[in-house]
Amino acid sequence: MASLDFNDRMLSLGLARVSEAAALASATLIGRGDEKAADQAAVNAMREQLNKLDIEGVVVIGEGERDEAPMLFIGEEVGSGKGPGVDIALDPLEGTTLTAKDMPNALTVIAMGPRGSMLHAPDVYMDKLAIGPGYKTGVVTMDMSPSERVSALAAAKGCSTEDITVCVLERPRHDDMIAELRSTGAAIRLITDGDVAGVMHCADAATTGIDMYMGSGGAPEGVLAAAALKCMGGQMYGKLLFRNDDERGRAAKAGITNFDRVYTRDDMVTSDVIFAATGVTDGSLLAGIKREPGFLTAETILMRSKTGSVRRMSYRNPV
Ligand code: FBP
Repeated sequence: MASLDFNDRMLSLGLARVSEAAALASATLIGRGDEKAADQAAVNAMREQLNKLDIEGVVVIGEGERDEAPMLFIGEEVGSGKGPGVDIALDPLEGTTLTAKDMPNALTVIAMGPRGSMLHAPDVYMDKLAIGPGYKTGVVTMDMSPSERVSALAAAKGCSTEDITVCVLERPRHDDMIAELRSTGAAIRLITDGDVAGVMHCADAATTGIDMYMGSGGAPEGVLAAAALKCMGGQMYGKLLFRNDDERGRAAKAGITNFDRVYTRDDMVTSDVIFAATGVTDGSLLAGIKREPGFLTAETILMRSKTGSVRRMSYRNPV
């Protein structure tokens, strides 16, 4: 029987080792043009390390449905089975193409919370909107147009719309949104992949230069980003997007009944969580894996929403 206690303080260091292991395993595959091999190496290492933790874990955001992912699939039980019952959201390699092409901001990501703490998001798209901490709740909303969001954020920040930078995934589906954003004079940081990092960047605008994230990307990545922002501070909204009945069926199977719901950050992650991410390639928030003769060095950010603590750890591993 799983314990009701979620001992996040002690578990967090274990979680950092899990994300570190996945990043270190993908190190030799950075820039080798093989997304699948990089992902597989990260999955294997993450699962092996996760199974060493004293938890009764269940993967709620994972590599896919049971029939399509042999490891770390949704519903897989992980951990030694001896500790607290926890839900786990993970992405062993967020940015497989970024890794294969040695482009910035590929990460390994994992979040853990008590049972029932995270939205069981199906593998569909999610429309996302995020800003960093320090703004009144609802300063930007999903109902606003992209240009209204820029104006509202500029007014709240006390700057002109030209001083706002919005991060957007570069996709044809975002062409109209990008054109509208450009008409406000705002700067746009286009990213080719990796919207978990894109959202996280809003939480540290002074370092990353990004004030707001918007656009559609994977729903599982949306929940991971919400977990990160719950620890770092900031607002986030997400709405599931369905392209067909199969996707609606997947959502229904995951327990979703209201297909039009706008989820806030705290709807997606309802209790305190711990979150760890390790840089694979260099990024604005985390350094990537550094390879030196005899050593690999990995940088990890480890956070607890209960306390708002943010730890950065550098791990040098002899190879
Ligand atoms: P992978 O790491 O699985 O390649 O996903 C990267 C990613 O860019 C996510 O960050 C994002 O949410 C999603 O893909 C966007 O999906 P699409 O490429 O279909 O627009």
